[in-house]
Amino acid sequence: MRVIETVRELQSLADAERAAGRRIALVPTMGALHAGHVSLVDFARSRADRVWLSVFVNPTQFDEASDLARYPRTWASDLARCREARVDVVFAPSAAEMYPAGSQTWVEVAELTRGLCGASRPGHFRGVATVVSKLLAAAKPHVAVFGEKDFQQLAVIRRLARDLCFDVEIVGVPIVREADGLALSSRNANLDPEARRQAPCLARALEAAERAVAAGERRRTQLLELVANEIGKAPRAEIDYADLRDPDTLEAAGDPLAGPALLALAVRFRGRDGGSDVRLIDNRVLLPSPSSLRGSSTRRSGT
Ligand code: PAJ
Repeated sequence: MRVIETVRELQSLADAERAAGRRIALVPTMGALHAGHVSLVDFARSRADRVWLSVFVNPTQFDEASDLARYPRTWASDLARCREARVDVVFAPSAAEMYPAGSQTWVEVAELTRGLCGASRPGHFRGVATVVSKLLAAAKPHVAVFGEKDFQQLAVIRRLARDLCFDVEIVGVPIVREADGLALSSRNANLDPEARRQAPCLARALEAAERAVAAGERRRTQLLELVANEIGKAPRAEIDYADLRDPDTLEAAGDPLAGPALLALAVRFRGRDGGSDVRLIDNRVLLPSPSSLRGSSTRRSGT
């Protein structure tokens, strides 16, 4: 396994691999690697001859300085995990390497970033879109792999790859969860034990909505009320947003639901004793089955 720190060196290696006819898959990360990241690596291997993983805590995507300062950094164990997962190259640039002095070019994906995390974290997606564009330009991968846990991020990256003509396939991989349902996230490490015990409320809220949809519920207010009820059972949790969106455009989903709808959720766990909050996100695409859709429209037209 090679560790590369400069864009120039990575680009030369990409050129050599491509000239030799080998396919490169890139897995961008901010380190603090967990089993969710490893599932991206495993998927990447199924799609390419070489798996490259980047570790870069990108300062421009943090809207709160305290969040950047507290972001877990676990370089030694990250390297061990990468070795174990048979990553071929770890790209670990410095901030100065990714943002050379005088940098002034930003990638802004307009509409897709207006709501959800874009609304509660100003500037976040500009930082993500910019760094991912740079990583794609640096690694020249055939395929780049991202998690569906960050659903809006995945939509933004698919869009920027199309809009900026990157010759790369963007692939999404399902969310990996703990046994109690909590979606794996590097930020879980910042939860105190009590907040950690309450954190599965996000997954439970998504499941409650999913069950309701399976039972025929299609109304937005009712579904979001179920979500609020589940989160309300966790005393330290506070909803940042909970919304139903079209999974492709991220525009508001139809009410009542008329097809697949993204239920996106962000929840803040208040810090203890003046400590900082920890904000977690999760999501699920709710799938009203075609037969129940027919059923509900029949019911609606009958009322
Ligand atoms: P990071 O939070 O480290 O996540 C890296 C990748 O792992 C993302 O594509 C994310 O969606 C995926 N991931 C995280 N938790 C996951 C889980 N439980 N199951 C499946 N996939 C999961 O996302 C970022 O870094 C950054 O914004 C980045 C894209 C690297 C740009 O800086």
